[in-house]
Amino acid sequence: MNAIVTDQITKSFNGFIAVNKINISVKEGELFGLLGPNGAGKTTLINMLSTMIHPTSGTGTVNGFDVVHDSASVRAAIGVVFQGSTLDEQLTGWENLDLHGRLYGLPASLRKKRMDEVLDLVELSHKSKLLVKTYSGGMIRRLEIARGLMHHPKVLFLDEPTLGLDPQTRLHIWEYIRRLNQEEGITIVLTTHYMEEADHLCDRIAIIDNGQVVALDTPEKLKSVFGGDVIILTLDTSEDAKKLSRVYKEAGYASISTEDQTVYLSVKKSEEVVPKVFSTAFTSGINIQSMTVRKSTLDDIFIHYTGRGIRDNLVDDITYMKYKLQTKRR
Ligand SMILES: Nc1ncnc2c1ncn2[C@@H]1O[C@H](COP(=O)(O)OP(=O)(O)OP(=O)(O)O)[C@@H](O)[C@H]1O
Ligand SMILES: [Mg+2]
Repeated sequence: MNAIVTDQITKSFNGFIAVNKINISVKEGELFGLLGPNGAGKTTLINMLSTMIHPTSGTGTVNGFDVVHDSASVRAAIGVVFQGSTLDEQLTGWENLDLHGRLYGLPASLRKKRMDEVLDLVELSHKSKLLVKTYSGGMIRRLEIARGLMHHPKVLFLDEPTLGLDPQTRLHIWEYIRRLNQEEGITIVLTTHYMEEADHLCDRIAIIDNGQVVALDTPEKLKSVFGGDVIILTLDTSEDAKKLSRVYKEAGYASISTEDQTVYLSVKKSEEVVPKVFSTAFTSGINIQSMTVRKSTLDDIFIHYTGRGIRDNLVDDITYMKYKLQTKRR
């Protein structure tokens, strides 16, 4: 059975389409990643699925319930860890969890049992009586994950679970996420900018850009589609870079991108194409200043699907800042 299904789910803000007719289905027990650059629409999609906002059109179901018409049932079935911290810093870890348990109507004895369990899971039992304002960033994230698990959710949404954490804490959180998925059978949807994180954790990854799914597959398949080497050519001018990339496209190279006076070519085996790369440039009268070849990384896959441009296609800066502040405060 599917834990999540969306059918053409769409969200627009004042005419700006943040999520554009997305169709995905996430299987029960799956660890599913939404990978995309800033502003791609990941949080908006999660907000719709967790019933925080309504879709403009299209539908979504979570655990078999419609996110608009049966939002109470959806909420009972999910846990959410938001992108910004939503803990009350003036309360202790214990009090934060207790409050959450009360909001979810857990009776006192069950509440205590679950709090002990989830604090133990994220190794925070010894800190539970301290105010959250004394916690480190990693501890805050762990407490938030613990809170998201209080009511035994079937589906857990994690929005950027490891953003801003040090490598050790990230590894730690990855371990929890995998254990929750494998030992407790919780379906998990997480968002990330880190290809490495998505690769490490997820059964399948949807790469999202400009509100749309641009690729969806297992990490292995996504990587195999893509070649093994990247050839980086520096030219005299950015005009030359654009011209040469057009020439290469006509010559049948599939994956090319440019940035200023640099051309990036992704190829299966560089040793087989370098001579042709040079002769093609020569024939077109374009001078190559220098060339570097390196093994392609996971980030190249991400760039391949989403391009090199910085994402600034926001509605307007002020609206966006307000929204970011709101999500931080929520
Ligand atoms: N409440 C809102 N009002 C106006 N615009 C919004 C609102 N929420 C989201 N947007 C816009 O929708 C787009 C998608 O935003 P979203 O937060 O979903 O992106 P994201 O993929 O989560 O990005 P990030 O990686 O930065 O968290 C952005 O362009 C953003 O400006
Ligand atoms: Mg986001």
